[in-house]
Amino acid sequence: MRSSTNSVATVIFKRLLRPWLFLLAPEIAHGWGFGAWRMCVALPLVGRFLRRNFTVTDPALRVHALGLEFPNPVGLAAGFDKNAVGYEAMTSMGFGFIEIGTVTPRPQSGNPCPRLFRLAKDGALINRLGFNNDGAEKVAERLSRSRKTIVGINIGKNRTTPNERAIDDYVFCAEVLTPHAGYVVVNVSSPNTPGLRELQSVDVLGPLLATVRNTMDRAVPERHVPLLIKIAPDLSDPETDQIADLALDLKLDGIIATNTTLDRGALAGSSSKHHLEQGGLSGPPVKERSLSILRRLKKRVGESVVLISCGGITTPEDACERLEAGATLIQLYTALIYEGPGLPGSINHALLLRSRSKISSPGA
Ligand code: FNR
Repeated sequence: MRSSTNSVATVIFKRLLRPWLFLLAPEIAHGWGFGAWRMCVALPLVGRFLRRNFTVTDPALRVHALGLEFPNPVGLAAGFDKNAVGYEAMTSMGFGFIEIGTVTPRPQSGNPCPRLFRLAKDGALINRLGFNNDGAEKVAERLSRSRKTIVGINIGKNRTTPNERAIDDYVFCAEVLTPHAGYVVVNVSSPNTPGLRELQSVDVLGPLLATVRNTMDRAVPERHVPLLIKIAPDLSDPETDQIADLALDLKLDGIIATNTTLDRGALAGSSSKHHLEQGGLSGPPVKERSLSILRRLKKRVGESVVLISCGGITTPEDACERLEAGATLIQLYTALIYEGPGLPGSINHALLLRSRSKISSPGA
């Protein structure tokens, strides 16, 4: 894809499509937008046109990490395709990998609507969806076809499972889903399942991760499926350090930093209609904290643990900054809602330019 095509796609999205989509309730707009993209990709000629124009394929973008070869470092964060219904279509948008979920053992409907809010002045979202998903077995069925796309599977616990039995939920998901996973993520950082974030305490987290690791090895003895943990941006610095040390001790494959925040301090447009809604805030207001956690983790773990940076990545410059700060891969969600389907391609073009300028001026 040429970068000009990309910019045209973004202008068309922002001028023509976004105003209509933003007239709809956010969750309905998500369903329609995602559904329309999947439908277009499924049409043979249109699908080929979209793939050709939205994906950037270049060996310079490839990333070898977690024992996998990623076609580019830009991933779709968890929560967009919770049920693995459109991961292949989202690859056609130019993403290098897709994280599906969060998936829980049993299906659950999540919190009552409305539960997703746009804070347009901040380019942000607040969500309290509460792990609405079809359950591990149904999702495993959808993932059972062979595929080229790298799919990470983000797992969690059901709302009704008490924290004392949370481990059973993660073990169940790991058993059922590991055979279909490029990598598995233990999500203990969503703010919308009461008590879930308490599982980030290392006394609980250590045994949880060790048990999930054993389960994964038993479920798929023939290959090492990487295990990662996803953390909240609201951890204190000492808590972040403890998790980094635990990751080193347990030889965890990676850390995804970060999930959404409960902090409303970085909201510029506090006049946004929904800024006081309960739930996790995402997009630019979480950017500084996610970046500072990434830097902190990098200092602590060096090259021993793969870091995936997520939270407030909105522009190609944000993406470059994260990679320069030590992320091996990046993920985004909220910016896609505001910038549209041209965004992964724009980021990849910028990364390509960056890698070419490094080659032409190696000392820089
Ligand atoms: C999310 N996110 C999320 N994360 C996760 O681990 N499991 C999930 O089910 C969800 N669900 C979810 C729904 C919605 C509507 C949003 C906006 C976000 C968090 C997401 O993966 C990401 O970590 C944060 O949104 C921060 O990245 P962005 O959105 O600022 O790029």
